[in-house]
Amino acid sequence: MSDPAPTKVKGQDRAMIARLWRDYVSKHIGTLLLAAIFMIILAATQAGYVYLISQAGQFLEGLDTPTSASEKAYTTAIFIGPLVIGITVVAAVSMYIQNVLTNKIALSTIRDLQVDMFGSAQRADYALFTREGSGSLVSRFVNDVTILTGALLRTMNNLGRDLLTIIAVIGAMLFTDWLLTALVLVIYPLIIIPLISLSRTLRGNSTDAQSQVGIITEQLSESFGGARLVKTYGLEDDQDQRLEKSFSERFRLYLKLVTNQARVDPMMEIIGGIAIVGLIVAGVWRVTSGAVTGWDVAAILGSLALLAPKLRALGTLNNVIQEGLAALSRIFELIDQKPTIIDAPGAAPLTVSKGNVTFSDVGFAYEKGDGPALSDISLSAKGGQTIAFVGPSGGGKSTLLNLLPRLFDAASGEITIDGQNIRGVTLDSLRANMALVSQDVTLFDDTVAANIGFGRKGASHDDITAAAKQAAAHDFITALPQGYDTKVGPGGARLSGGQRQRIAIARAILRDAPILLLDEATSALDAQSEAQIQDALERLSKGRTSFVIAHRLSTVRSADHIIVLDNGRIAERGTHDSLIQDGGLYAQLAALQLS
Ligand SMILES: Nc1ncnc2c1ncn2[C@@H]1O[C@H](COP(=O)(O)OP(=O)(O)OP(=O)(O)O)[C@@H](O)[C@H]1O
Ligand SMILES: [Mg+2]
Repeated sequence: MSDPAPTKVKGQDRAMIARLWRDYVSKHIGTLLLAAIFMIILAATQAGYVYLISQAGQFLEGLDTPTSASEKAYTTAIFIGPLVIGITVVAAVSMYIQNVLTNKIALSTIRDLQVDMFGSAQRADYALFTREGSGSLVSRFVNDVTILTGALLRTMNNLGRDLLTIIAVIGAMLFTDWLLTALVLVIYPLIIIPLISLSRTLRGNSTDAQSQVGIITEQLSESFGGARLVKTYGLEDDQDQRLEKSFSERFRLYLKLVTNQARVDPMMEIIGGIAIVGLIVAGVWRVTSGAVTGWDVAAILGSLALLAPKLRALGTLNNVIQEGLAALSRIFELIDQKPTIIDAPGAAPLTVSKGNVTFSDVGFAYEKGDGPALSDISLSAKGGQTIAFVGPSGGGKSTLLNLLPRLFDAASGEITIDGQNIRGVTLDSLRANMALVSQDVTLFDDTVAANIGFGRKGASHDDITAAAKQAAAHDFITALPQGYDTKVGPGGARLSGGQRQRIAIARAILRDAPILLLDEATSALDAQSEAQIQDALERLSKGRTSFVIAHRLSTVRSADHIIVLDNGRIAERGTHDSLIQDGGLYAQLAALQLS
């Protein structure tokens, strides 16, 4: 991928970095300053080494000349030993403290970003989750965050600690011999030219590689989540192929990335070699002309060994920052997700008195450009009535139910509850007045009691048991190993489909809301449980306005109104008897099922 407008990208990068600093990093300014102090101490110790080596010659000259070699070595050990070890201890302690502090800053920054990202993603429009796979969302919390942590640490360490060390060591070198140091300072910057041209290639490589990671996460979770399908349909080989293709693509993209990255170190190595040759030649000249001692040259050569890894880290820092910025932009993108389904200005809480629900000329499409999923829907339910929706699969029944709690907003027309437009009341109050049992039951990996308890905050254990009894779930729950405290497993995997559905119904019963939305609430039940629950649901729907979707017409016979949805439109409406008499779509369905 190429940057079409690098200057614009640079501006955006700057804005992102400024925002990261302002909203996340700057609050750790105290820790950062403390870390900086230890970075400075560390840098000073490194310069201390260089100074010590260069002074070793003068120290030796200062010793009385007639002493033997072993005596000289002994005296040196007595003087230099404690000095060097002292410096080492100070360096080691500073290194440790500085490392812990910078890690603490990076990790708390990441935690805050994760909290914001999750808060924002959860409050995003429901459409985000149907549009973007959960794998790609998860990948931002896992992969992007790891990359950003690395980039933050490298930036603080390389731009703080290493740069300070480089400056201090160069200072000590200049103090030792400015001419030899100047030579090094002329040779090393040559590396920058190829590095700059490399960095843009690397950012492209890294963006490609990271989006591939999102794809793999998605496919893995699909594959493992669909384990039952994969096994029973013998799809292992297909899945192998699908993932192998992705793994190979990852291999290809990462190899490209690391191959380009690998060019940096050898370039540094060669430059280092050139610097050493230059130093030796110039050093011999300087020593011979009496300007410096051999110890000074040794000190400068030694400093090169100290500097090389730091310079190398600086050389690759840009790549790491580029990768980090790419990750940061995906993180901010999620944080900046602005929901469009929100409280209107001045929205008042919904007050349900009778429970009348009206749809007037409602139309809806999932995506602009898609055909409408619903058009010209007008209907009204009096408080306490049951409206049943039937019709062919894909007719728009679930879509219609989704509009009531405003999971999606209608594109045209309006929906009112007791005369209040649902777009004019607060979302919280709207949703608090509804209980939904959907086609796909959602259970969290928690206890049975907790899963039912989500229906109403603060529900007591007795309330939960009462709801479970009404939903014909109490008996199977008490038969579970830990009864109501049994963990249901991820997604409720330890329960049968019918058991999951009864828990979902118990949850809806507990909610005790005036408007009830049942989407195929009994589809996974055997005939006996269905009869039991049918009873429970009928009792439940007394005095509540109920929207019921059912494929089994036995369930809808007793409804006050039956609406047949076909292709997003109301094809027929009436009661069971009137629709049978009309002899249309409903009559055909009924003939098939009730024969
Ligand atoms: N999230 C979505 N994004 C785009 N299109 C969607 C989405 N959900 C449903 N659709 C489309 O909208 C149409 C109506 O779907 P809907 O789920 O409302 O049908 P349904 O009547 O509930 O069917 P079923 O009886 O099979 O549950 C279908 O054509 C479907 O492809
Ligand atoms: Mg449906």
